[in-house]
Amino acid sequence: MNITLTPEWLSLLEHQKRLEKTHLRDLFAQDSQRFQRFSSELEGLLVDYSKQRLDQPALDSLMALARLADVEGWRDRMFSGEKINISEDRAVLHTALRHMDYKAFPAVDNDVMPQVRAVRKQMRDIVERVRSGLWRGFKGDAIQNIVNIGIGGSDLGPKLATRALSALQHPHLKFYYVSNLDSAHLAPLLEELDPRTTLFVVASKTFTTQETSINAHTARTWLMAAAMEEWAIAKHFIAVTSSPAKAHEFGIPDSNILEIWDWVGGRYSLWSAVGLSVALAIGMSGFERLLMGAEAMDTHFRTTPLEQNLPVLMALISIWNTNFLGAETTAILPYNESMRHLPAFLQQLEMESNGKAVDRDGQALTCHANPIVWGEIGVNGQHAFFQLLHQGGWLIPCDFVVAASSDFPLPGHQAPLLANCLAQSAALAFGKTEAQAREELTQAGLSEAQIAKLLPHKVFAGNQPSTTILMPGLDPFQLGMLLALYEHKVFVQGVIWSINSFDQWGVELGKQLANRLLPAILGDQTNDAQLDTSTSGLIAYFRRYGHV
Ligand code: F6P
Repeated sequence: MNITLTPEWLSLLEHQKRLEKTHLRDLFAQDSQRFQRFSSELEGLLVDYSKQRLDQPALDSLMALARLADVEGWRDRMFSGEKINISEDRAVLHTALRHMDYKAFPAVDNDVMPQVRAVRKQMRDIVERVRSGLWRGFKGDAIQNIVNIGIGGSDLGPKLATRALSALQHPHLKFYYVSNLDSAHLAPLLEELDPRTTLFVVASKTFTTQETSINAHTARTWLMAAAMEEWAIAKHFIAVTSSPAKAHEFGIPDSNILEIWDWVGGRYSLWSAVGLSVALAIGMSGFERLLMGAEAMDTHFRTTPLEQNLPVLMALISIWNTNFLGAETTAILPYNESMRHLPAFLQQLEMESNGKAVDRDGQALTCHANPIVWGEIGVNGQHAFFQLLHQGGWLIPCDFVVAASSDFPLPGHQAPLLANCLAQSAALAFGKTEAQAREELTQAGLSEAQIAKLLPHKVFAGNQPSTTILMPGLDPFQLGMLLALYEHKVFVQGVIWSINSFDQWGVELGKQLANRLLPAILGDQTNDAQLDTSTSGLIAYFRRYGHV
């Protein structure tokens, strides 16, 4: 089925035409209950989508589109463990990782829970030993520094969660995340750290990722320079991987290898042992609260009618903005400092999942799929790029995310922070009309000539759509719900666009080429004649100036 040719899609195009001239100001003026109608709260997590540019009939048609695409059927297929990741022939079962009760999952005859629970137990044991100081380094010291070495899903999720929950962090442990191949990431850290008190968590589903492998080998060399004995690796390295044999080859003993499985996608792996550094930071019970929050969102997603289903609503709104209003990008604007890594996490989640131009059957899509996701801490953005959001003329839907209470409270900070967040979404939505701007300038005592000159600069078109997501505070449960909300949103979008959201072949070509170019950069001229002129010109530059 080509969804863009269906009556449901065509009816949405009609809604788009009907609403083309309707400003968010009009939508609010027409309905005093708009906030109540277009917002929803689940266990304290409030999603306000009233500042989106649609009305109930448009939303009803979006729901019809979701039904046509069989969102409910695909959702059930995912939860049942069907191999919906067809290009890799894999099930998609990250939801098992946050399945907290004693029952089988996804089914009695295909129960993955015994292995999940066994790894949780292994995690708990490690977490308790490290946090209590029982885990000792090669000289008998307690661990003080945890360095997670990983990239992509093996970095972004745990880094986001560790930072977001840093107020709950163990007082004597410090956490670092190393992902970049550039030695400027690892080198200064190694200078600062003491090998006797440092524990490396090498997180890599495949255990073949070049960046992680090079960083892990450098860390091992650094440790060996101090410890001199192979057995020290067991005291300072843990691996999280679906390839235990490769971790073993690296020198990590089986007792320090935590397994993940092929049915856990990298960008969906925070909930697995990839979250070990989060658990080390906030304790295993805290980590389980994170899992419970995600499970609460899973239950909501699985059981709530589409009309009240938060991930479905968020997905449909994004589809409306992208495919009907024509938005090419979307901004993620967290206002809490501790949520600083949310935009990067969502970039991978959204763009690696749905940044595709062919459907599940390999046919070209007839509409754009995922928009470009970008973002920054809200208040910082206000003093950088918000000018363009307000007056640049681009349609850029925004997600504002903020916790009502501060995780690191200081007097006089939180109320202005919240005021800024709300002011921006209101200013973007409602703007300032020419009449309002004229009135202000007149009040300020400007002459007619001055007003005429300034007026165009003082008008704000508004009508910039946004969703605001509020949490009571930054706690593990709320964070779990929030991240699972976005995961399922991405899934629903993928279903409607007919995309397999769980593969990422697009990252392979660059990896292959990098491997091919490495010898040339190191000076091997054998294949120079086969290089394109741009690449060979750039390599010549590296040969001249690079110290490789
Ligand atoms: O290159 C993309 C990717 O495969 C991501 O999907 C993944 O999260 C990341 O690399 C890291 O992979 P791994 O955990 O296997 O090292």
